[in-house]
Amino acid sequence: MAQKEHWDSRTAFILAAIGSAIGLGNIWRFPYIAYKYGGGAFLIPYFVALFTAGIPLLILEFALGHRTEKSAPYAFGTFKTSWKWAGWLAVFVGFGIVTYYAVIMAWSFDYFVYSFKLSWGTNPGNFFYPKFLQLSHNPFQIGGLRGVIILGLVGTWVWIYFSIIKGAKSVGKVVYVTVIVPWIVLLVLFVRGITLPGAQEGLRYFLTPNFSALKDPAVWFNAYSQIFFTLSIGFGVMIAYASFLPRKSDIINNAFIIALSNCVTSFIGGLTVFSTLGYLAYQKGVAVSSVVAKGPGLAFITYPTVINLFPFAQPFFGAIFFLMLLTLGIDSAFSLVEAFSAAAADKWKIRRPLLNGIISGIAFLIGLLFTTRSGLYWLDIFDHYLANYGLVIAALLEAIFVGYIIGPERLRKYANQLSDFSIGKWWTFMIKIIIPITLIWVIIWNIKDEIKIPYSGYTKGALGIGLLFLGLLFIMSFIFSKERSK
Ligand code: PFF
Repeated sequence: MAQKEHWDSRTAFILAAIGSAIGLGNIWRFPYIAYKYGGGAFLIPYFVALFTAGIPLLILEFALGHRTEKSAPYAFGTFKTSWKWAGWLAVFVGFGIVTYYAVIMAWSFDYFVYSFKLSWGTNPGNFFYPKFLQLSHNPFQIGGLRGVIILGLVGTWVWIYFSIIKGAKSVGKVVYVTVIVPWIVLLVLFVRGITLPGAQEGLRYFLTPNFSALKDPAVWFNAYSQIFFTLSIGFGVMIAYASFLPRKSDIINNAFIIALSNCVTSFIGGLTVFSTLGYLAYQKGVAVSSVVAKGPGLAFITYPTVINLFPFAQPFFGAIFFLMLLTLGIDSAFSLVEAFSAAAADKWKIRRPLLNGIISGIAFLIGLLFTTRSGLYWLDIFDHYLANYGLVIAALLEAIFVGYIIGPERLRKYANQLSDFSIGKWWTFMIKIIIPITLIWVIIWNIKDEIKIPYSGYTKGALGIGLLFLGLLFIMSFIFSKERSK
């Protein structure tokens, strides 16, 4: 096996992990979910999820990676060979996610260029779907590839490739830029946002607590899934990143620093988005509720609309907004590739640059599906299965594995003896009891919902293909976990 790679410093590791955690999700997922599920009151389930599941699992992944010095499958395999597949499942789900995460980056690339001339015109809604995506009528109407998006995708993959070319060594350098730049831009947009007329109304909408929402299980379910997604838990990323730590490194304090920095960023993201929405509503003379958007709609329609309304420096604000999305997303994207690549490097003796090239190439080819005219539908369907089910199943397996197969006390003592401060038995209780119960409940809840109403009104055929893809990842995990010879 190749010589073990290491981070250059503790800061490099912390920034890489923060870079993975802070991504598009902080800007276009968190604000919307918080607003929808109780506003200010959502912070209660959110912090409960953070402390009962998020931080405990982050510590678990760090301890597992550090103790074994291996990628997810081999970290599991060190304790029990028959569980290797669960580690492969985690990295395969991450790999599936990066195939479409990179396409969103590709759109951001294109829009970054468009922002110099405000090419989205006076009605960004009429630009994004019909002109930019040229969205077809249904998932099966593929309708050919979109050249500009492919161009953006090539740019994204070249960027990812060079960021991880030498594993931790190169990642540790790149993250100084890709973590700090979006923070600075976010701060600029935050100050711009809260000083706009109408901002207060937007913030009031976002933060007014609706405590009765706390009785709704959907609120709790969304708080937990948001915490997993945002902390990049369950994809083997944090296991791989911790495996590159030197032998004497803190784990527990790092986990707290990383998780809290991420959540504070989400909160500032929320304030920025909602103050800006307040301005939009004010300009249009409508209620804030009628301009609320999430996901692609927020980034590619609502924000360009707001930028058009700015009295000055429109191209500047457009360019820095898309630069922020790009730098936010890139380190999340390459962390997923890195987790997979670290696993492949543990399995095969192939040089890292070549391995990264093969992985990036395959992911690019799969991503072409999302650059077709029906790409947005497939992106949405794949995301639904991977980010909801794939992620939660992988995290559940992780908790069961540590809780019942290797024994959490062992790992807790290991983490305590290394760290700046210790964790008590509460951690073991979370891993053995709270996390499995919550996650099983989340999965059942999800399936029940799914049977009642097909996701987003898609046909059974389209959803079946998404499910098939998830199934394929399971099968691949089993195949990859079988070793021919040693
Ligand atoms: N945490 C990222 C976000 O919130 O956008 C997304 C993500 C990155 C999820 C890396 C999982 C992962 F392994």
